[in-house]
Amino acid sequence: RLFTYCDVQTALVLVFVLLLTFWYLRPGKNLPPGPWGWPVLGHIPTLGKSPHLVLTAMRKKYGDVFSIRMGPKDVVVLCGYEAIHEALVRKGEDFSSRPSMYLFDKTTGMKSGIAFLPYGSLWKQQRKFTLRSLRDFGFGKRSLEGKILEEAEGLKEEILKTANTPFNVRPLLQNAVSNVICSIVFGARFDYSDPKFNYLMDRVNQNFGEQDLAGVTNFFPLLRHIPAVRKAVDKVLKNAEEVIGSLREDLIEHKNTFDPSNIRDFIDSYLLEMSQEDEAGDRENFTEDQLNYVISDLFVAGSETTSTTLTWALLYMVLYPEVQQKVQEEIDSVVGPDTALSITQRSQLPYTEAVITEVMRIKPVAPMSLPHATSKNANLFGYDIPEGTMIWPVLWSVFYDPVHYHEPEVFKPQRFLGENGQFVKDPTFIPFSTGRRMCLGENLAKMELFLFFTHLLQHFTFKLPDGAAKPSTVGIVGIITYSPVSFDLCAIPRE
Ligand code: HEM
Repeated sequence: RLFTYCDVQTALVLVFVLLLTFWYLRPGKNLPPGPWGWPVLGHIPTLGKSPHLVLTAMRKKYGDVFSIRMGPKDVVVLCGYEAIHEALVRKGEDFSSRPSMYLFDKTTGMKSGIAFLPYGSLWKQQRKFTLRSLRDFGFGKRSLEGKILEEAEGLKEEILKTANTPFNVRPLLQNAVSNVICSIVFGARFDYSDPKFNYLMDRVNQNFGEQDLAGVTNFFPLLRHIPAVRKAVDKVLKNAEEVIGSLREDLIEHKNTFDPSNIRDFIDSYLLEMSQEDEAGDRENFTEDQLNYVISDLFVAGSETTSTTLTWALLYMVLYPEVQQKVQEEIDSVVGPDTALSITQRSQLPYTEAVITEVMRIKPVAPMSLPHATSKNANLFGYDIPEGTMIWPVLWSVFYDPVHYHEPEVFKPQRFLGENGQFVKDPTFIPFSTGRRMCLGENLAKMELFLFFTHLLQHFTFKLPDGAAKPSTVGIVGIITYSPVSFDLCAIPRE
């Protein structure tokens, strides 16, 4: 016998030690240093259910830029405004791609739509076209304000039906906000009792919620073959397919009634672009499939984020009745009870503006933005970051940075007010992210937040149900968004 049992054992231990050393030291790589995670799993177990908090805490020890491992993948974490600005704005050309992640890729048509397209000409074309069309069919038109106010009025009527009894406001907000983007995209709205809408929103909510088992496939795609993981992944894929399928029906209906001389909404505008591209003999980038995923991105991103922010805003109003009262007094000082506020009056309501801003700071709906990736080999603060590396801009760390925001954990709208009570913009306030990939719906969202919030507070005082415990301000981190735990409130109509 050439080798003894002990020799084999020693060799195995040596190989294991070598692999571990390779895993931890990453020879040949000059990535920013960071904490050592678990072998094989890396930081997946460490981040737990509050990755934004864990990463913000790690910043204290490892600085503004550090690396972690998520399974086999290196992730470069950016904390604080300066690091995020340096990468996403100053080096935007290098840091504006999206990573390949199994679940995201599968639910977004293997790199279709806008939000998950890699940086490049297809993304640039789709984004530019979408921004321009949204402006034509919404943002730039005064009619959009009318549309939002119409929905705000419908929401008011719906809330009146609760007749002072406790209810969960979130589904109603989702319906109202979603109707705005639906009217821009396919010229339709959903009634509050429409089972199709409730079904669709339920699919979206499930996919935006916690994704423990399915989410792990983003880092270990092969785990999808384990039956329990497979089941969770299938559910996410089925939900996404149902949303896409339902939007496809609207698309087909538009195709059948398409008239190039009467462009009704975003879908028509895209169909027109497709036909023009066709004449030029190039339909490569503007395809029906691509359109299906673009409208899905707009529907999902346009409904979930804004309604979640409004839900947080009402939660803070029931927790801080004195703030709510001040907002109401400010609204009353600008318009009478029967007149709706216009977006042009925003500058006359600095306190209200500060309250909305503070809600978005203390509860950023996308605390870790969307994941970015390097589009080429890049350098950041002297570190070499290979092409395709995942980049996480932790927006939460910006808003909880005591250097920029004194006592960040305290809800203090006045931090955004100047000495004369005027609203003061803070350049580090980036809930929509920053740089080339920053939120495409920022203008729409800001308009909706202002008009919905003021309309609601003009007509109702929101209170906790008698004897109810205070709702928690600790939210739930889903696959992208940070939402409050479901809570009930009462809406008391104002005299
Ligand atoms: C991307 C925040 C509303 C459409 C994003 C990103 C953030 C964000 C943080 C990631 C940016 C990045 O990767 O650097 C928000 C917040 C909203 C909101 C806080 C409301 C309060 C909306 C609305 C729409 C929308 C109403 C629909 C028109 C998008 C799209 C992207 C995006 C399409 C992907 C952009 C790209 O990859 O080029 N948003 N968003 N968002 N948002 Fe929003």
